[in-house]
Amino acid sequence: MPRGWFITLEGLDGSGKTTQINRLAAWMQRRGLKPVVTRQPGGTATGDRIRTLLLDSGSTPIASKTEMALMFADRAQCIAEVIQPALDAGKIVLCDRFTDSTEAYQGGGREIGSQTILDLHRLVCGDLQPDLTLLLLPALEAGLERARRRNDRQTAQNGADEGRFEREKDGFFRRVWEKYREIAAREPDRVIRIEGNLSIDEVHEQIVEAVSERLMVSGKTASS
Ligand code: TYD
Repeated sequence: MPRGWFITLEGLDGSGKTTQINRLAAWMQRRGLKPVVTRQPGGTATGDRIRTLLLDSGSTPIASKTEMALMFADRAQCIAEVIQPALDAGKIVLCDRFTDSTEAYQGGGREIGSQTILDLHRLVCGDLQPDLTLLLLPALEAGLERARRRNDRQTAQNGADEGRFEREKDGFFRRVWEKYREIAAREPDRVIRIEGNLSIDEVHEQIVEAVSERLMVSGKTASS
């Protein structure tokens, strides 16, 4: 069966993932590649409902394990509806967050630990692993500041408050940050770390370099 190519973007809130995924998709489109772009939580109609439940800071309290299970429920839907069909059709999939987020945020941030997340990943997602993960890790404080400002702006504009995570204390984000670094150290072949206070263009260049290298090795062509 043909197998497409699965790329994930990871990072802390405010790391600029969404800008970078859009730029990477545009870069691919200019080369005749037609990536399928999706995100978690969200990316499907059911996933968008789960996303609202998870991110609305006005939601009723959510226990850490409920939060973890909802992230996997969303992921199962996204895999079934979007990711697996696209990969089976030989396409490139760009996904804004995947199981590394659950390991970092619920495993690290909420202190559930990695093992539970990795076990659940195997049960829910089978052996589906990204071929390449681009991990954006700008300096912690600057990123958080940006994420909190953005959420306040969005709430003022359209009333949609997705700030349940942005309201967490700095200690939570430090644990997320450390867990991301642990994942990168554990899987250096899959996870490319893009660190430091780089400009949007500099981050894009590093992403393109990593992706081009892998594309060449995998022999993906403009027909994908
Ligand atoms: P996202 O919309 O990607 O936020 P941002 O653009 O700020 O990075 O993700 C929403 C939030 O959900 C983010 O704070 C991280 C959190 N999250 C988890 O805690 N666990 C998960 O498994 C996923 C996918 C996201």
